[in-house]
Amino acid sequence: MEIAVRAAGTDVAKARATLEKDLGFGRYFADRMFQMKFNEERGWHDAEIIPYQALQMDPAAMVLHYGQEIFEGQKAYRWDDGRIAMFRPDANAARMNRSAQRLCMPPIPPDDLVQATLTLVGQLAEWIPSSPSTLYVRPTMIASEAALGVRPAKEYLYFIICSPVGPYFPKGFAPVRVKAEPAYVRAVEGGTGDAKCGGNYATSLLAQNIAKSEGFDAVLWLDAKEHRFVEEIGAMNILFVVDGKLVTSPLHGSILPGITRDSILRLAADEGMKVHERPLSIQELTQGIERGVVTEAFGAGTAAVVTPVGIVGWGGKDYAISDNQVGPITKHFYNVLTGFQYGKTKDPYGWVRTVEVPARVA
Ligand code: PLP
Ligand code: COI
Repeated sequence: MEIAVRAAGTDVAKARATLEKDLGFGRYFADRMFQMKFNEERGWHDAEIIPYQALQMDPAAMVLHYGQEIFEGQKAYRWDDGRIAMFRPDANAARMNRSAQRLCMPPIPPDDLVQATLTLVGQLAEWIPSSPSTLYVRPTMIASEAALGVRPAKEYLYFIICSPVGPYFPKGFAPVRVKAEPAYVRAVEGGTGDAKCGGNYATSLLAQNIAKSEGFDAVLWLDAKEHRFVEEIGAMNILFVVDGKLVTSPLHGSILPGITRDSILRLAADEGMKVHERPLSIQELTQGIERGVVTEAFGAGTAAVVTPVGIVGWGGKDYAISDNQVGPITKHFYNVLTGFQYGKTKDPYGWVRTVEVPARVA
């Protein structure tokens, strides 16, 4: 794919000043973006890197009415030796296209998705902070056709924006308190839970607000049919150590197939740990915590990497896992993944892709 670089070079002083701030998550944006357009005649076309700017959109653009939107979440890491790397960008490309299929949006050749991401990130090298901060990369596809009929749009915009970020949870790598949600659900089997579309996150906001007002950090989502089986936390997959084995929900339609989750399951199996992808009920979880059989729980996702879960709230009671301390297996996976991502440990899986930085911005 030909990418026209219309904005090369960065406002270095602005980039440096930004990286010195308390970055938070998704507050600041790098000064260039990628975009390309789709219509039925030309397919995907006009791939370009342009200055970061507001989108010009017709108020009838279908994304604004029926939510035909999908996105990805990736990160670019600055290594101590100055190199820049990304983690499994091909897996994000594959998931983007699976989401596209679910939302009736046009696929993009996976190699083009990876190329667009790596090219933009290479151009934005000055915007990538050092460990433990990162550049969060947000590829997004929206239905841009102006029309009000309920049907798939015929025109789309794909863009990538980037945001230098600190830890997703302000406390960093520390146990979070999560509320098992008895009434609201995030996703249903047959719905869009296994696609990364904005609608899933809109659905999650009310329960998240209530949980936050009660002093929790995130919602622990239960299945929609029986309100019984543990599915995800916040915007992460969740894994447990039960009787020394790694347990996580199978991917049965309502759960996002996380790349972090997939990587951890692979690492665990290769290290000889028993891995069970099976349903785990909230009753088994709370009783297991009380009996000391469930010794660790952690969220897994790009934004929050590996996040220890210290307390599960259910039925008005707090269940503290291993005295709300970070467990050794949680810490281990955090160390291994961040070791690969920041180039501190050699990655034998070929997951890490270093990014070419054009000489003028190196
Ligand atoms: N589940 C949800 C709902 C998410 O938003 C995310 C974040 O992308 C994940 C799980 C974890 O996925 P990944 O590890 O690919 O970032
Ligand atoms: C990610 O981990 O990339 C996520 O999707 C979290 C995000 C919704 C903030």
